[in-house]
Amino acid sequence: MSAFSPVYNAHQTLVAPSILSADFAKLGEELQRLEAAQADWIHVDVMDGMFVPNLTLGPPIIKALRKHSTLPFDVHLMIEQPDRYLADFRDAGADVITVHAEACPHLHRTLSEIRRLGCKAGVSLNPATPVSAIENVLDALDLVLVMSVNPGFGGQTFIPQSLNKLAQVKALIAERPIFLEVDGGVSPKNAAEVRAAGANVIVAGSAVFKAEDMPATIQALKG
Ligand code: DX5
Ligand code: ZN
Repeated sequence: MSAFSPVYNAHQTLVAPSILSADFAKLGEELQRLEAAQADWIHVDVMDGMFVPNLTLGPPIIKALRKHSTLPFDVHLMIEQPDRYLADFRDAGADVITVHAEACPHLHRTLSEIRRLGCKAGVSLNPATPVSAIENVLDALDLVLVMSVNPGFGGQTFIPQSLNKLAQVKALIAERPIFLEVDGGVSPKNAAEVRAAGANVIVAGSAVFKAEDMPATIQALKG
């Protein structure tokens, strides 16, 4: 965990660029570029080739990156049985750890463990997963991540039903200090819609890294 654990502010929209679309050969420099462009969090996509059909990175790379940024690390675990690695991700420098509801038969226990480790506890819902999956764990949650594509790859097309899903989650969390994050296919073109639906943390990979003007793109996502 870093000293930069995020604090909830109901009036702020945050942008969390996903380094999945960064140049993996120079991730340290990419983090500095994001920080200079006013990114709020660094979104790190961890994939195991089982929960999703792709492999990315794990704790050793996150640990190496921790020295290159003072921004909160928002670690999105797209892995089976995430409980096996929670402490490793905390030790590597994660500030937010998000697990998938579909990968956690004992979701309440997993979220409680993330908090016990000193991190913010997030849960992510795949596009096909109903919002009711989180109804009984609201008190154990700091963040809900609505997947607006099927997880596994960057650069996919936003699923329009996700706007409805965001609004449903927003209604469920009401005034609780829980971040509502959206991930997948978000760009300046649809950012106003996801914000209007209730999202206050916007993940964007390809939109940020393919942008000609990174600071302007991050600003446009914030609105
Ligand atoms: C998808 C990942 C996303 C992805 C977003 O499985 O969780 O974070 O990198 O990339 P874009 O913004 O390109 O859809
Ligand atoms: Zn992600």
